[in-house]
Amino acid sequence: MRTQVCIIGGGPSGLLLSQLLHRKGIDSVVLERRTRAHVLGRIRAGVLEKGFVALMREAGVGERMDREGFVHDGTMIAYDDHLFRIDFTKHTGTPVVVYGQTEVTRDLYDAREASDGKLIFNVEDVVINDADTDAPFVTYSRDGTGHRIDCDYVAGCDGFHGVSRQTIPTSVRREYEKVYPFGWLGILSETPPVNDELIYANSDRGFALCSMRNANLSRYYIQCPLSDDAADWTDQMFWDELRRRIPGEAAERLVTGPSIEKSIAPLRSFVTEPMRWGRLFLCGDAAHIVPPTGAKGLNTAASDIHYLYHGLADWYLNKESEGLERYSEKALARIWKAERFSWWMSNLLHRYPDQSAFDLKMQRADLEFLESNESAQKVLAENYVGLPF
Ligand code: APR
Ligand code: PHB
Repeated sequence: MRTQVCIIGGGPSGLLLSQLLHRKGIDSVVLERRTRAHVLGRIRAGVLEKGFVALMREAGVGERMDREGFVHDGTMIAYDDHLFRIDFTKHTGTPVVVYGQTEVTRDLYDAREASDGKLIFNVEDVVINDADTDAPFVTYSRDGTGHRIDCDYVAGCDGFHGVSRQTIPTSVRREYEKVYPFGWLGILSETPPVNDELIYANSDRGFALCSMRNANLSRYYIQCPLSDDAADWTDQMFWDELRRRIPGEAAERLVTGPSIEKSIAPLRSFVTEPMRWGRLFLCGDAAHIVPPTGAKGLNTAASDIHYLYHGLADWYLNKESEGLERYSEKALARIWKAERFSWWMSNLLHRYPDQSAFDLKMQRADLEFLESNESAQKVLAENYVGLPF
């Protein structure tokens, strides 16, 4: 088989790229290791920046997001007995949209399938060959049979554990990583959200987050030791701990119910450089990971896709190669800023096992400054709603 762009990975990055390229008449094939149902079973964050929302619309898949997504003009921050609001729209002119990643992915699958997009599921043994030549090809097996796809370019959208990043020789690749000494225990419950905006809480028992998917589906998280097992946390234990970590008025309003999902996610900051090697381009989690504190995971994937999509479109439609040549540089410039913000917001809100009395005072001063200073709030708002592409 031959295609213009072979996309490894059918998560949000790969699907969005393939849909955007399709709208410009550029052919792609998406190779996904799992099934559609498996990909849609993953629960991930659901806060979309303006740039992501614009890309979804440009890809022709914004209709349900525009209808069902919730526009949030701000967020709440809590510490001790303080509760204050950061007004995104006042400070930046832009809100965020709360619409789950699962829904984003479902809309993208529906769109690709409606236009007979080439999505191949259950692929195994994917190997990217000759990416540093003018004739790359990808091999894989499916149901025991080997296949080959010849292409112009390969987009590595296969997440943190994929093969694309590993294809770049270690002599070229440089990786930067920080692993945080705690996890997030998250639950999903069919209960009305405790607040109409998110609440990020720093408490002396650790971080907590009140989020949501819709009017009757709530998503809550609490910081926990990495050694914990989600199965040891009963729903009752979770709700009791959450109540202790959020402001009293919210704790009183909290509607609890059975969890329909419960899991622990580790927190990591990670970036690989460069994001391009020959004709292979890395996008999304394949190239970088952020801790979830600033809700930047999906949104950083979107800026990569924006740069790569425009680079490919400029090349195929206008024979201009600058976008492709500068892909890694442009993508990384924005990624590092999102990494900084997610790291900063994680430091602001979590309790660290080795935090000294001095560190705690610094954290508290940072929170007090944020609460009282409009400029500090504007900086948070600008980063949260997303820096320009
Ligand atoms: N071959 C084919 N597909 C693969 C391979 C492989 N060797 N390895 C992984 N995959 C698939 C995975 O099954 C997954 O569906 O690649 C996809 C990668 O999807 P994600 O991990 O969701 O990554 P991405 O599309 O970049 O999305 C970024 O999703 O992971 C979250 O926090 C992240 O919100 C961010 C967003
Ligand atoms: C979520 O709703 O899952 C969510 C929201 C905001 C975050 C992280 C996760 O910062």
